[in-house]
Amino acid sequence: EKGGFDTFMEKEIHDQPHAVADTLLGRTDETGSLVLDEMGMSEEDLRAIDKMVIVACGTAAYAGMVAKYAIERWARIPVEVELAHEFRYRDPVIDEKTLVVSISQSGETMDTLMAVRHAKELGARTISICNTHGSTIPRESDGVLYTHAGPEIAVASTKAFLAQITASYILGLYLVQVRRDKREGVAEVMAELQAIPAKIESLLEGMDRVKEIARFMADTRAVLFLGRHVGFPVAMEGALKLKELAYIHAEGFAAGELKHGPIALIEPGQPVFVVVPSPDSEHGLHGKVVSNIQEIRARGARTLVIAEEGDEDVVPFADEVIRVPRTQALLAPLLTVVPLQVFALELSTAKGLDVDQPRNLAKSVTVE
Ligand code: F6R
Repeated sequence: EKGGFDTFMEKEIHDQPHAVADTLLGRTDETGSLVLDEMGMSEEDLRAIDKMVIVACGTAAYAGMVAKYAIERWARIPVEVELAHEFRYRDPVIDEKTLVVSISQSGETMDTLMAVRHAKELGARTISICNTHGSTIPRESDGVLYTHAGPEIAVASTKAFLAQITASYILGLYLVQVRRDKREGVAEVMAELQAIPAKIESLLEGMDRVKEIARFMADTRAVLFLGRHVGFPVAMEGALKLKELAYIHAEGFAAGELKHGPIALIEPGQPVFVVVPSPDSEHGLHGKVVSNIQEIRARGARTLVIAEEGDEDVVPFADEVIRVPRTQALLAPLLTVVPLQVFALELSTAKGLDVDQPRNLAKSVTVE
């Protein structure tokens, strides 16, 4: 049942190319148009939406943050992302022109369900991105976009995260198609998304050094993660995986925040993962993140740098360079998070911990 792997988590990490490919399957018709037939809303209704609010918890909320960058950039619709348990008790400004999108692997997370119910009471339209057919959250939402990651058994989410991000991209592109009538850009992103599974595959084949780094870090007390733009939620997800699996204090920061406080944490030997954007990104943040690496290195940090193949600028300041294949800037999280998952899994294993069932956690949190 573990497909030859020692743990469900390891199997699920290796399932990720399929999780992405299967989530993309059957979303386009013969003309290349996206068809999402379970949206529960007409195209006219979708055109009337003036704001989107994404509600989710934990890893699913980080998928939501990635979605915000992509959907705002492509569809030019304002997107807020909020932890479901905060949204529910905050008196949010929501009406019938708001599209509330919940993201949940299990479809049973009570905090997320309560947020969806609250959104409906306020008159919003609701869509759920969910991995579990017939679960409560999609049943109570107006529409659903199912992720096709297959059952996720390990408590720590991996393949569901990639599938959630993929589904959010599809939703964003669908909104472009419906609201902006710009089909060309859509085809280009879809084509690159189709290429992602093979890139994850090749990335997974090159993880030996990451595993080695993890095994030598079993005594580490704290690890920091820096990222910017879509790399920021990836940094937070990398930190969450490490907390959950290896019980190591870990924090993810937006790299731009460094000088506003967190740089005080840097002392000699402090390991810091840095998720570097592509040198070709149109947002032009590559140079800024390379400067951040330089700054923390000068203060003694041990820099573990996740950078695109061919990015030589990082090399002088990196103690380790972990390479990821090239892709479009907004799609990079589907690749950059993978080494961080493998790192947490391997470190947890090196400490002799229960990877699939970390202490104090349940697979789905059905209480508020
Ligand atoms: C982290 C993890 C949790 C879940 C969160 C939401 O590895 O698994 O943070 O992502 O509890 O769960 P779902 O997606 O089922 O609503």
